[in-house]
Amino acid sequence: MGSGSSKNPSSFHGSADDVVGGLGGLLYVSLKMESLKTAGDLIPHVFGSVPIIGSWEPSRALPMERESASMWELSFVVPPNHETLHFQFLLKPKDRVGPCVVEEGAERLLIGGNLEGDVRAAVFRSAAFGDDVVLQHKVLVKADIVSPFGLAASWRAYQENFRPSTVRGIPDISINAAPERGRENVSTATLELDLESYVVPAPDCAVSSVYAANLTESPRSVASGVVESKSAVAFCALQKQDSQSGLFVDRGVGSSRLVKSVSEDASTSHLNLGSETKAMPAAAGAVAAAAVADQMHGPKEDRRLAIVLVGLPARGKTFTAAKLTRYLRWLGHETKHFNVGKYRRLKHGTNQCADFFRADNPEGMEARNEVAALAMDDMLSWMKRGGQVGIFDATNSTRKRRNMLMKMAEGNCKIIFLETICNDEHIIERNIRLKIQQSPDYAEETDFEAGLQDFKERLTNYDKVYEPVEEGSYIKMIDMVSGNDGQIQVNNISGYLPGRIVFFLVNTHLTPRPILLTRHGESQDNVRGRIGGDSVLSEAGEIYSKKLTNFVEKRLKSEKKASIWTSTLQRTILTATPIVGFPKIQWRALDEINSGVCDGMGYDEIKRNMPEEYESRNKDKLRYRYPRGESYLDVIQRLEPVIIELERQRAPVVVISHQAVLRALYAYFADRPLKEIPSIEVPLHTIIEIQMGVAGVQEKRYKLMD
Ligand code: F6P
Repeated sequence: MGSGSSKNPSSFHGSADDVVGGLGGLLYVSLKMESLKTAGDLIPHVFGSVPIIGSWEPSRALPMERESASMWELSFVVPPNHETLHFQFLLKPKDRVGPCVVEEGAERLLIGGNLEGDVRAAVFRSAAFGDDVVLQHKVLVKADIVSPFGLAASWRAYQENFRPSTVRGIPDISINAAPERGRENVSTATLELDLESYVVPAPDCAVSSVYAANLTESPRSVASGVVESKSAVAFCALQKQDSQSGLFVDRGVGSSRLVKSVSEDASTSHLNLGSETKAMPAAAGAVAAAAVADQMHGPKEDRRLAIVLVGLPARGKTFTAAKLTRYLRWLGHETKHFNVGKYRRLKHGTNQCADFFRADNPEGMEARNEVAALAMDDMLSWMKRGGQVGIFDATNSTRKRRNMLMKMAEGNCKIIFLETICNDEHIIERNIRLKIQQSPDYAEETDFEAGLQDFKERLTNYDKVYEPVEEGSYIKMIDMVSGNDGQIQVNNISGYLPGRIVFFLVNTHLTPRPILLTRHGESQDNVRGRIGGDSVLSEAGEIYSKKLTNFVEKRLKSEKKASIWTSTLQRTILTATPIVGFPKIQWRALDEINSGVCDGMGYDEIKRNMPEEYESRNKDKLRYRYPRGESYLDVIQRLEPVIIELERQRAPVVVISHQAVLRALYAYFADRPLKEIPSIEVPLHTIIEIQMGVAGVQEKRYKLMD
């Protein structure tokens, strides 16, 4: 019996792949067996070639699910140009006592989603059935191309029901669904019970839950002390400055570039444009073509977007603003978070008591409006220098304040109000407590209760004059923090970027859960120093897969809904193979960076034979696109559905993927600038645990072996 799979480029179905393969589509294969006459308690199973089916070992065969009284099904997902799959059906006793009966005849071959040959029945013969009894079951196979979004949708349907959906046309993802935990006798390498002994320090710039407002833009004028107190009116004059910031669209090093305008605003010379801004002009790289088109063809003010937060204190505004900033930056949009509280603290000190926030306190009102105008002015100036999305984070809870902002924005940028409303007293109380612990406003308050009292008074002061948004373009997030029954209302929202923002906000939540990121175990190509390829694991890699299994079982033992995500490449699937008891999903989007014509070569070989390519990559690894392959920016773009799905998940997820892909995913959680992505350290045999929660994200690393 065969034990492997063979590469079969001739099985490639050009049409299917042409249509969706290039867009990340996958082939959803549904194997069915109609068993009108069952023999006792025998369950149809499938076993076969690594990597898709898993194993030729009968004890590891995958059970088919009962779809109806007489129909059994097993579905899985493969790339459209998948390797030839060798498999056979077998019947296994339900109680696992007694022999398995393997179907008669040669191995079956599945090529490009089609069964080879005309074998439409599976024939089973066994002494246990009786002398003349032969069971003959009809076999059917159906293969459909599905998009990653379709897969994600059906994955959710599957998770929610935790059984295969009966709605046909919406496939379930039951690929490699493992038998119940504990039933399989998997020999795992030893891993001491104490997971903590594997903890290694995270790099300096690791994810940490710092108070989000501290990470926002530092005020240009207030911090340097050069701007004296000004009224809001004085700032309006500044809007009249002309904007000449250029729009670059760079689809990758070596590829043709589209440059609409490259004229630099002379006033930028004295401004602190970081190297990132220079290297990553607005709309470069990972930004989707639709966003670019919107930017180029839309009205002038639509090319820059201000997301203006609205809401009472302790409604999660700063947290939402920080999350949105991280997401948009990761996608390649020049985005900055301006927190008015930070301006206030710098200008008026950290210890303003509740009275400062009373609407009938004229000095307080003037001071607050002034810092809001300062922050808005900084944001507009930054936009004139090339900034694309400004997130303006303050309560902005009266119509008057919002009118002032709209006036300042006129002709400069489009404003979308993002109002966060929370009606859950428990969540508000939790947020208030977090605020007292984290906010610099209360850093000097040693009496927690006194701080609590003061903050609640501040909140009442805001509440008295609060006017919900009813004007302009807006998004209202109502009770979205608690997640389940929340809703999003949108008004007058159009365009690519606003649409993406709404989509992102619909999908995020604050349910605490870990996301475990790991590379596959060492592969044979790693040992040989070759990039790309689809090799199996080395000996060390196999040990890692067992250690990882052990780790996952211990770390996630009470997490019934956790899932394991791999790429479609053997080395990740094999790394996940010994893990049982959790559903597994293969994402093509998690495949390693496509090194095109360099696939299978070593770095030395590339340097020797293709010195220009080697040099170009060295110069700009982020944007360098391998000939007929991908760049890091391409990888980021294809990972967006994965990020959205990770944001959506409420249960833990273990992502087993590859170096370049994990660098890009990690950068999202760690909020690392795009330019750093290609050099982020993601060592082999190490698990990066990202803890998502109400206070932000935190990181812990476990090194299981060298
Ligand atoms: O070497 C392992 C590997 O996963 C290759 O398959 C891939 O091309 C490479 O890492 C990505 O890392 P880098 O971008 O640093 O070459």
